[in-house]
Amino acid sequence: MSANSSQPIRVALAGCGTVGTGVLRILVQRGDELYARSGLRFEVAAILERDPTRPRGVAVPHARFVRAPDELDELLVDGSVDVLVEVLGGTDAARHVALAALEKGLPVVTANKALIAIHGRELFDVARRHGTCVAFEASCAGGVPVVAAIQRGLIATRINAVYGIVNGTCNYVLTEMLEKNRSYAEALGEAQRLGYAEADPTLDVDGTDSAHKLAILALLALGADLDVGAIDVEGIQSIHQADLAIARTLGYACKLLAIGLRTDAGLSLRVHPALVPLDHPLARTRGVTAAAVFLGDAMDQLVLSGSGAGSLPTAGAVVSDLVEVACGNARRDFERLPIFREPNRAPPFVPAGDMEYRYYLRCFVDREPNAAAITNILASARVDVDTRTRPDADSVVLITRRVREDDLRAAVAEVRKLVPEPPPVVLRFVEPNGE
Ligand SMILES: NC(=O)c1ccc[n+]([C@@H]2O[C@H](COP(=O)([O-])OP(=O)(O)OC[C@H]3O[C@@H](n4cnc5c(N)ncnc54)[C@H](OP(=O)(O)O)[C@@H]3O)[C@@H](O)[C@H]2O)c1
Repeated sequence: MSANSSQPIRVALAGCGTVGTGVLRILVQRGDELYARSGLRFEVAAILERDPTRPRGVAVPHARFVRAPDELDELLVDGSVDVLVEVLGGTDAARHVALAALEKGLPVVTANKALIAIHGRELFDVARRHGTCVAFEASCAGGVPVVAAIQRGLIATRINAVYGIVNGTCNYVLTEMLEKNRSYAEALGEAQRLGYAEADPTLDVDGTDSAHKLAILALLALGADLDVGAIDVEGIQSIHQADLAIARTLGYACKLLAIGLRTDAGLSLRVHPALVPLDHPLARTRGVTAAAVFLGDAMDQLVLSGSGAGSLPTAGAVVSDLVEVACGNARRDFERLPIFREPNRAPPFVPAGDMEYRYYLRCFVDREPNAAAITNILASARVDVDTRTRPDADSVVLITRRVREDDLRAAVAEVRKLVPEPPPVVLRFVEPNGE
């Protein structure tokens, strides 16, 4: 597809929920402004929505409404649209409509990280075979333009680490727990009430959503193979308010981080709650804000932060992709960048157990002999303890020196033989260099 200034670019919009409505608002209500800045006009020609009568606050008199993916297929085939915007969510219907468009040679713009992380390789292959492209700026950090940063501004930089806060729901929950002294359940309930979390927030809090985004970031920034299964994932469900408060007294903030790191042995990809120094930019990233840190050979750190979600910020990223597609840039990127075609040249992944960290370990013991026994268990498992404190009568906090993850896991398994429940809280310290 190439833009012709006299003809509007006809968009099929699959999904008209939070993001889709934002896309409509920008294309319809701010069309003149967008034209003034981009020289391009877009027309929403088709909308896939289960309930077309739902009020969306934007009139789209020329759009044809369809209720099912199969009906959209017909419009993609009959030449009445130029580009598909997929903002349905999920992977089944999303994959269906994306493949239908690509097989017809139409470019696809999506905000759907699960779609790219799980089916990206297939979609890239089909796009390449049909001379078109897939654009997914909104998929990693909503309104924060991380994809453009990697593919353009940082193209000459060898990125050694990309890490950050990519799930606003988790960051909101952790911020509320610390600042308002709320329990995990209370903070999550508040996130749901405010519309930050889904009715079923499992994929947010268990780290899956962050892993999807990390898979994409690592593909772009580190040349990783697109493989969510290679990511070691932990969520925030077992974090207690007390751990956040103790961490702060130690000079750290606890954040759910997605971390991609280039090491001598290969790539380490992981998602887990992590302790970062209070003066680090990520420690100051509060609420639903997203932030990504890039470290490269030719630069100090670059930090991008902003609205990681929400209707208009995310829709803004979708529309920026539409402009890139219409200008032909997206397709040129697709043809030019090896990440979309050379998975076999990707560096190997480092097994999670081989990585080394300093750990925060809080074990629940109310008797001093047990606290002492835990220290001995760690010593016999080659886990060196740096400091040991008792923040309250019911627990002991041990800060280790840098130790192998496998050794720490073995030690924790031994600790659980002594104190089966509740399980210890284990947090990794993350240094500013991402290690
Ligand atoms: N919301 C954000 O801030 C944000 C930020 C970044 C990326 N994203 C991504 O953007 C995508 C859309 O998110 P969203 O928040 O806009 O979701 P949403 O509010 O749930 O909107 C999705 C819309 O698609 C419709 N839909 C889903 N499956 C359909 C099907 N098979 N046939 C017809 N209609 C269907 C839904 O209809 P029903 O309501 O009837 O199911 C709904 O109107 C997701 O992939 C999400 O991960 C969202």
